[in-house]
Amino acid sequence: MAMVASQTIDRVAVLTIDNPPVNGLGAAIRTGLDRAVGAALTDPGVDAIVIRGAGRLFSGGADIREFNTEKSRIEPVLTVLIDSIEAAGKPVIAAIHGSAMGGGLELALGCHYRIAAPGAKLGLPEVKLGLLPGAGGTQRLPRLVGIEPAIEIITSGDPVTAERALEIGLIDRIADGSLAEAGLAFAKEIVAAGKGPRPVSAMDHKLEAARARREILDDARRKAASRARGFEAPQVCIDAIAWSLDLPFAAGKEKEREAFLRLVGSDQSRAQQHAFFAERKAAKIPDLPPDTAPKEVRQAAVIGCGTMGGGIAMCFANAGIPVTVLESEPEALDRGLERIRSLYQGSVSRGRLDRKTADDRIALIEGTTSWQDLGNADLVIEAVFENMKVKEEVFSKLDQATRPDAILATNTSTLDVDRIARATTRPDKVIGTHFFSPANVMRLLENVRGQASSPETIATVMALGKRLGKVPVLAGVCDGFIGNRMLYAYSRQANFLLEEGALPHQVDKVLYDFGLPMGPFAMGDLAGLDVGWRVRQERAQSRPTNLRYSTIADKICERGRFGQKTGAGWYRYEKGSRTPIPDPEIETLIREVSKEQGIQRRKISDQEILERCLYPLINEGARILEEGIAIRSSDIDVVWIYGYGFPRYRGGPMFHADTIGPTIVHDAMVRLHETHGDWLEPAPLLAELARSGKRFRDL
Ligand code: NAI
Repeated sequence: MAMVASQTIDRVAVLTIDNPPVNGLGAAIRTGLDRAVGAALTDPGVDAIVIRGAGRLFSGGADIREFNTEKSRIEPVLTVLIDSIEAAGKPVIAAIHGSAMGGGLELALGCHYRIAAPGAKLGLPEVKLGLLPGAGGTQRLPRLVGIEPAIEIITSGDPVTAERALEIGLIDRIADGSLAEAGLAFAKEIVAAGKGPRPVSAMDHKLEAARARREILDDARRKAASRARGFEAPQVCIDAIAWSLDLPFAAGKEKEREAFLRLVGSDQSRAQQHAFFAERKAAKIPDLPPDTAPKEVRQAAVIGCGTMGGGIAMCFANAGIPVTVLESEPEALDRGLERIRSLYQGSVSRGRLDRKTADDRIALIEGTTSWQDLGNADLVIEAVFENMKVKEEVFSKLDQATRPDAILATNTSTLDVDRIARATTRPDKVIGTHFFSPANVMRLLENVRGQASSPETIATVMALGKRLGKVPVLAGVCDGFIGNRMLYAYSRQANFLLEEGALPHQVDKVLYDFGLPMGPFAMGDLAGLDVGWRVRQERAQSRPTNLRYSTIADKICERGRFGQKTGAGWYRYEKGSRTPIPDPEIETLIREVSKEQGIQRRKISDQEILERCLYPLINEGARILEEGIAIRSSDIDVVWIYGYGFPRYRGGPMFHADTIGPTIVHDAMVRLHETHGDWLEPAPLLAELARSGKRFRDL
């Protein structure tokens, strides 16, 4: 139960916040603290107050489960509580261990002195939920540490260590030995020295210097605009920091409060809160028996050391898991291992990794050409050529070469996991683990359960994803799984738009401005156009003949233009540059195709481009949901945020559909279907939502 315990030791009242798991400052804790501080202030036997946290941390801050609920309004609200603690007539000391985050750090800023255990982390992560610290943090932090560290902490949302906190004056000292004892000793020392309360709100000396250098704020705005393009909150955070320079504390806090309330109800913050919960929810698989234990992966293996296999091997090494990498030819193995070494070397050169760590990681990766070396592996990930015959052969070999309990995973992006599983005698231990390129960088891991995949197999790859620092999402077997299947729906329309009158750079700009890292054509050039071309050629026989098909992409590949790697694709590229330049040759080609198709080119508006690309993507998401390929609409959002850079401030495509209104999306699909026919028929689930007035998140 949430409570605040109070104990008086040597005339110091020690108040302990106890609200597992993170000592969230929910209503019960706020009233408890308020009462305990009040009692300590009126108690003549108390000279000073220490506030600390029970368990493994000081406080994780406001209880985000209370956001936008009645409970968050129960008095005293956090900001009022913190003000009253700061106004206390006896010195109040925050003793911080583990971490003080968000409201937890704001509470510590309301105290008069701060001491922290070594290694403690202090941060204001509100910006990551589309918010600003709303309980005085934006006004107190600059006063305490100065403008530049405050900007960094508040706009990045990343915590600083106790050591850095001491350096910038965020804390007064680091505890030597036990924090409980050091906190108490610090309090007694303050009393003995006759140092009274020291409210941060009254400090000004660090702001004075900054007032003469206002360009710091403009720099910060520019930096935030490029680091977090399209996000509102970082800019509002900088506004608030500027108020600390220009306004008296109370007025600044008033404005901070207004800004907080504006943000907390904004579409962007709601979307970012959704993304936060969606990511956590994705780890829960409802139909797994609750006692399903993941298998421990002590030794891994990867088959194929190409683009993906090499990156996947690095993921294991980065997580400290020894990994054997198999290629069939020694030359291919050498090439693959060399590429891994040079990627690590690149990180060392850029200062992202120290030499020793890089060497340790490289030492965890062992190359082999012998299948006999796989006998130790608990889990194998196959990343050979995307070809069913090759994969079937590899899996039947793996079945022989590995221990019978080893899990065999495939990184296939388009092939049928069930068919691959049938090449083994253990289909229950076969599953898809679809990494995104570059595998050592991209956070999404789309795990694909086959019909026979056992609960243990599923639990293992979900747990593995976490251990590799990825965000795992579970999908079912279908063409393209969740992410790429929706991507096809989207890029197909982008291609039709070209035939009807748009040009690649126009389409790309609209989607970039919407918040995606790049549009479909720039993305195609980056990923390589030949892969999709090969898949389309293989499937030419099974292509539905009653549905329209755009030939532009094939014609570009026929000219040997495979994207950035050949210096030309949808765009052309100057030597050594990745900047796409619109190419008249492609414009001519597109016009020719329009003519061939008998299409009268027309002017296409940006709004039409956005709807034509996004709504079919959402529509495909609805089909994926109704077919049970995705467990929940929020899982689809996670796939798109982490796998394709869908703007987090829009919460993912399905949340975005909820924000627009499923009825509006549905009605637009009906219109598009009437005008353009094939591919655009509204999904039954979308029609159902439009009928019932429900949203995806209500399902
Ligand atoms: P790649 O062509 O770069 O690498 C494949 C590697 O497998 C080559 O080094 C090849 O020598 C090796 N190999 C082929 N047959 C083998 C065998 N029988 N035994 C051992 N090694 C063998 O291909 P990439 O791009 O790494 O793709 C690998 C898999 O990952 C494919 O299934 C692909 O669909 C999938 N994938 C690719 C993505 C991408 O963006 N490139 C993204 C997600 C999945």
